Amino acid sequence: EKGAYEHYMLKEIDEQPAVMRALQQVYLNADGTVEIDDEMLTAIKNSERIYVVAAGTSYHAGLVGRELFEKIAQVPTEVHVASEFAYNPPLLAEKPFFIFLSQSGETADSREVLKRVNEWNYPSLTITNVPNSTLSREASYTMLLHAGPEIAVASTKAYTAQVAVEAILAKAIGQMKGLQKAIEFDLKKELTLVANAMQIMVDEKYNMEMLADEYLKTTRNAFYIGRGIDYDVAIEAALKLKEISYIQTEGFASGELKHGTIALIEEGTPVIAIITNELTAAHTRSNVQEVIARGANVIRIVMDSLSQDQDQIVIPEVHPLLTPLVSIIPAQLLAYYASKNRGYDVDKPRNLAKSVTVE
Ligand code: M6R
Repeated sequence: EKGAYEHYMLKEIDEQPAVMRALQQVYLNADGTVEIDDEMLTAIKNSERIYVVAAGTSYHAGLVGRELFEKIAQVPTEVHVASEFAYNPPLLAEKPFFIFLSQSGETADSREVLKRVNEWNYPSLTITNVPNSTLSREASYTMLLHAGPEIAVASTKAYTAQVAVEAILAKAIGQMKGLQKAIEFDLKKELTLVANAMQIMVDEKYNMEMLADEYLKTTRNAFYIGRGIDYDVAIEAALKLKEISYIQTEGFASGELKHGTIALIEEGTPVIAIITNELTAAHTRSNVQEVIARGANVIRIVMDSLSQDQDQIVIPEVHPLLTPLVSIIPAQLLAYYASKNRGYDVDKPRNLAKSVTVE
């Protein structure tokens, strides 16, 4: 039930802090260690490489997962679009472990890949919001997102739940391997900080509506840019905006713009920059200057410690590998208000279904 909300999407955006708390309850012990099936962790530990397979927003959550699995658990990770993998699989490691990310657990493209993985007899995990869904039944193991039903076609809380579950899983794998970095990754503390930061961002609705009105009301195209984990978020942010506002939006690696795409920047083109990484903040800021010089209207989403006076959206400080959980929220809200201001059906955008059960 959407209750007092005009749209499910806004309700689901608002639920994200509570989902973080629910995940802490389900997966974290009082002492901060992680409670996950040992047999599954052993299977991952014994594998050489993780292959994440997913579509759409779930694929984007997988991109952030790669950062977590490689940096916290030290497992080399590849992320694949399900429809591409199915008929053109890459050369696999000798001992692969597959992770299927899917809110619905019913996406046909991912099911097709899992069918093959089962024929090859490789171990797999489905991370899904729907218990007993097809992908969950057909994989060797399941982890649930505990996000509650997601009704709006544009996925919001499932994305952040997927990233949080990946963080929990990365810690558990690293913990089992005895890695110091994983043991010190204090998810009880970090996810509490995230939930509080998310709350601050979802309370920024009025400002996001104003920004959407000023920058996105009439434009035909827009860009999100970022580097590293901010680039992963940029792609998801772009999908969110395009699928419900019909503004042609692309996410780009900021440094790559000047290799071609910058030709598209005109007077008034909206460019939204995500800056949460200390190492690359100055580089992205100089890319921002390059697009401003060509007439772009820039919105900056910046982590507190890196923020400057003119930045319009400042996100509270969280762990550097968990920033997507917070930086995506203003992007979700900008998409929501852009769609609403333009008079579209926010929850049911044209041409799209909530779960895509054909290949
Ligand atoms: O149910 P799934 O997570 O497998 O769905 C995958 C995509 O179809 C889905 O994320 C889609 O991209 C959303 N509409 C994005 O908001």
